Amino acid sequence: MRLFLITLGLLLGLSGVAFADESPVQADKDAVNIFNSTCGWCHQGAGRAAGGIGPKLMDTSRSDEFIVNRIKNGSEGKMPAFGAQFSDAQIQALLRYIRNLKPEN
Ligand code: HEC
Repeated sequence: MRLFLITLGLLLGLSGVAFADESPVQADKDAVNIFNSTCGWCHQGAGRAAGGIGPKLMDTSRSDEFIVNRIKNGSEGKMPAFGAQFSDAQIQALLRYIRNLKPEN
């Protein structure tokens, strides 16, 4: 029994590390691809610039909740809703992508 618990603990511990390590990194790579293929034609300069169909996203003053909500539900007549297309993890990764946008040198 003790050995079983130790093994179980090890397995959970290891998978925890694997999750913490791999999925956000993979999700962040996915977010770049998603943004380029799905969002970038409205949000110019990969989200860095104004003047497109959609507003500039870099340095947005909107809250996390607002951004997640906008991506999930869109804005009627202006931006499509993506809640059915992307998982919560992908939307969180898109949020991180937007938060991490820096001017291109
Ligand atoms: C068809 C063009 C279009 C596409 C595609 C699009 N957006 Fe938008 N987006 C807009 C427009 C227009 C607004 C402004 C909506 C409003 O003010 O009501 C907006 C607003 C936003 C906002 C809120 C910005 C703010 O400051 O109000 C975020 C965040 C956002 N979009 C992210 C995304 C992401 C992420 C994707 C891809 C998954 C995406 N958009 C795809 C047109 C688009």
